[in-house]
Amino acid sequence: MQVAGQPHRTIWVDDDGWSIGIIDQTLLPHAFETVLLQSVEQAATAISDMLVRGAPLIGATAAYGLCLAMREDPSDTNLQAASDQLMATRPTAVNLRWALDEMGQVLSPLAPADRAVAAYAKAANICDDDVEICRQIGEHGLELIKALAQNKPAGQPVNILTHCNAGWLATVDWGTATAPIYMAFEAGIDVHVWVDETRPRNQGAALTSWELGNHGVPHTLITDNAGGHLMQHGLVDMCIVGTDRTTYTGDVCNKIGTYLKALAAHDNNVPFYVALPSTTIDWTASDGLRDIPIEQRHGDEIGKVAGRTKDGEIVSVAISPDQTPIRNDAFDVTPARLVTGLVTERGIAQPNADSLRAMFPDLAG
Ligand code: MRU
Repeated sequence: MQVAGQPHRTIWVDDDGWSIGIIDQTLLPHAFETVLLQSVEQAATAISDMLVRGAPLIGATAAYGLCLAMREDPSDTNLQAASDQLMATRPTAVNLRWALDEMGQVLSPLAPADRAVAAYAKAANICDDDVEICRQIGEHGLELIKALAQNKPAGQPVNILTHCNAGWLATVDWGTATAPIYMAFEAGIDVHVWVDETRPRNQGAALTSWELGNHGVPHTLITDNAGGHLMQHGLVDMCIVGTDRTTYTGDVCNKIGTYLKALAAHDNNVPFYVALPSTTIDWTASDGLRDIPIEQRHGDEIGKVAGRTKDGEIVSVAISPDQTPIRNDAFDVTPARLVTGLVTERGIAQPNADSLRAMFPDLAG
């Protein structure tokens, strides 16, 4: 997608041919700065400190992290150690495990001397595939938005609510939940996006608003608590969110607060769609509440808020007493029964095992 009118991906190989470029997403929307990763340690830190985030981008960064490790030491021992180190960075997004497995399958059988070149080729392939998959998700989701647009009175936009950032910043390009929105906008459909702020880290306020704004897509930032109220007043035609891990039975794990939006959507007959690449389906998990590990993050994400002062300085301020105990679950699980459909690269699946298996017989095992 575009940054200041220039096409951009979220991750790339630098002109030196080996360092990995990323956007430091912790600085957005106040500053656009890129960072070069030159070791597996730096790649692991970029994931755990959330310079990069979003399930598909976490997977892509881990893949390039293994490239950096193989360049330094392509031994079997280091392949295992680097893979373990990257796997430990964030527990919920299953794309991390998927990408490391894909890389391992290519690298393990090779002689160590051949591993670095093969790793870069495979990581590039994972990234290119992700772009194409997101584009296809966009095409399928576009049909949903077109259908809604046909039933809107003239002059009224299709109002779409999204949570967190499942935009191009969370993938390599296009995004998952945002891909249909970008395509609808480019097709001239009148769309408007309600952007949940997404406490505690404010990925909606900071990232989704930033990327929609860069593309000129009409949007309005709302508090996390506003969605239900807007739905009650007929101001939301559709919800679409991303996911960090979806069971093969259709339970959807996504950023904390997604479940409450799905409940409100259900109560108000608002369709609730989840956009996902097949790489986010966990074919070993059947019960989202039991089988998906929920990341616990530092309490400072809740007890403090970072922002820009009117003088342009970026500061972090406390919003609760210093000693207040804080619990920070980063994700929640929306049961399949609250999900209208899963927008994948192969089409729109029902949130159940039969439908997902029929759509992905090659992956279901
Ligand atoms: O903690 P984050 O910012 O990595 O969480 C991101 C999300 O919850 C996204 O909705 C999800 O990864 C889907 S990204 C296409």
